[in-house]
Amino acid sequence: MNLILLGGPGAGKGTQAKLIVEEYKIPQISTGDMLRDAVKQGTELGKKAKEYMDKGELVPDEIVIGIVRDRLKQPDCEKGFILDGFPRTIAQAEALDKMLDEIGKKIDAVINIYVPEEEIVKRIVNRRTCKKCGAIYHLIYSPPKEPDKCDKCGGELYQRDDDKEETVRERLRVYKEQTEPLIEYYKKKGILYNVDGTKDINGVFEEIKGVLSKLS
Ligand code: AP5
Ligand code: MG
Ligand code: ZN
Repeated sequence: MNLILLGGPGAGKGTQAKLIVEEYKIPQISTGDMLRDAVKQGTELGKKAKEYMDKGELVPDEIVIGIVRDRLKQPDCEKGFILDGFPRTIAQAEALDKMLDEIGKKIDAVINIYVPEEEIVKRIVNRRTCKKCGAIYHLIYSPPKEPDKCDKCGGELYQRDDDKEETVRERLRVYKEQTEPLIEYYKKKGILYNVDGTKDINGVFEEIKGVLSKLS
């Protein structure tokens, strides 16, 4: 099963991707996480990406497309994968179609998680992420048992550099301008499924499972 999770910043892509990974045993490919790893490691790519990420802008297509192309060739993607945060522009979507064609694969479903803007801001400013295992928390909606400590691995929780309110507003603007057109792109292909992202985490996951159960 080859999936794309589409949705604005803070819509719950990462949260749902992790639940899908557990249930369906296919890997999550998050371009955001991969770019943050590169930033942390201080690679050339990371240095370049950070300039864009800190402003809430998109990293140039060539960079992200290259990362995804390499990742999709890894053996753990044989049985399927979940793209989280990619594609984000029409150019990325077209590049993805082309690279999947070349390896004889296709996307089975694009899950579009919708959450209104004001709720998005509330979700993002209270998000905390585990430094060690990447688990995602929310100080109000899904708080860790102990403050600043990951329930799963004991790792330290941190707030992402791009999660300040003004950067979130910019990410929302960029989403509307550059990513929202993908909804129409995948609707035309007949593989778009809308999910109500305002439900609680399990409620959203139930909706996604409902969609996935009808696929094969
Ligand atoms: P990326 O990391 O992809 O960020 P994003 O798209 O802005 O999305 P987020 O990760 O912020 O949100 P999410 O949807 O994963 O929500 P989450 O599950 O964490 O990208 C970051 C940057 O990298 C970009 O700005 C860009 O610069 C660059 N980049 C990445 N990919 C790129 C690409 N393809 N091309 C170019 N540049 C790229 O949930 C959010 C919060 O809400 C959490 O606290 C969570 O606990 C809570 N929550 C989740 N679901 C619910 C629920 N149902 N109810 C209540 N709370 C919930
Ligand atoms: Mg995410
Ligand atoms: Zn952890």
